[in-house]
Amino acid sequence: MSDLITAIRAALPDETLRERMRARAILHLPGALGAVRSVYSLDMLGAALARRAIPADHVSFYLANRKIDLEKVQAVSDGVLRPAALRTLALQGGTLVVRHLETADPEIHGLVCEAERWLQGPVLAGLVASFGASALPLHYDGEDLLIVQLAGAKLWHFHGDPEPACALPSESDPGTPEPPLAHAVMMRQGDLLYVPCGQRHRCVPQGDSLHLGLLIRNAPASRIFDDPLLTAPVQRFSGIESLPEAARRRSDLWAARRAHMLHLDLETPDPDAPGAFAIWNLSLPPAITNEGKLVAGRTSMTATPAILALIDNLRDGPQPAASLDRAALNALAAAGFVRIRR
Ligand SMILES: [Fe+2]
Repeated sequence: MSDLITAIRAALPDETLRERMRARAILHLPGALGAVRSVYSLDMLGAALARRAIPADHVSFYLANRKIDLEKVQAVSDGVLRPAALRTLALQGGTLVVRHLETADPEIHGLVCEAERWLQGPVLAGLVASFGASALPLHYDGEDLLIVQLAGAKLWHFHGDPEPACALPSESDPGTPEPPLAHAVMMRQGDLLYVPCGQRHRCVPQGDSLHLGLLIRNAPASRIFDDPLLTAPVQRFSGIESLPEAARRRSDLWAARRAHMLHLDLETPDPDAPGAFAIWNLSLPPAITNEGKLVAGRTSMTATPAILALIDNLRDGPQPAASLDRAALNALAAAGFVRIRR
């Protein structure tokens, strides 16, 4: 399964992804991934639903561009999904969305672990299966999206520019006019698409369509302490198969991230204040370390020996700012890797 991450990285070099993240610009790579049918299929989804591996609160269904109340139509009963009722809904067309597919499928769990090691931040997997031309209403997501079209085709319409503050996903307010159509992309099997968080979109499936999304969390510091995903207990793998090694690695990553969060100071940094401390900050948006470059949020810098030595120091815990190489400290603070507190 990590073959998929290898294929994504071959088609989308880190430097290109960094540029697109910085510019918050869509990137469509037609046919970039070759054969992807085996990654996940409707049959696998049906089997996962049948063995109750997917919790009801991870599933939503849209018909005629409106979200269906699954309890009301009795596709959820006593908090449990009813696969036969979902099948009946699917026969009417519409779109089924599964969030956190990594908690239901060991292969997808492994893929998400691999993506988290690559992107150095929380990633979740979403599956979108369409059975007709109807999909979600115009909305934007709170995550950067890497979309892999697994089967069929889907037309994506992008409206306006990305929202600057996109921490929370939002369906468009029906009272406000839609931003104009800015761009359209036809996704076909094997295509890869990058969409920055906050970019409004609406999809028109061309008949049956299945895509997998890697959703890269993009957590602004102002929301770090109350972001439900970042502060919630680590999601346990709920499939039948057990994955102790992968689950441990994933838990380690989250634990490290939380430890950094505890050190994060949201007060105005003041590097020149007497007694100022420097704190290594890994809790902001996707950070990629590759080829001697460090990236956090929308900035990047070259990791010189002085900078790497300073990072090593800070990994042991907060350090007095006065004891550190000032040029390297200033460079790291300006790029968002280090916070200063008193
Ligand atoms: Fe979306």
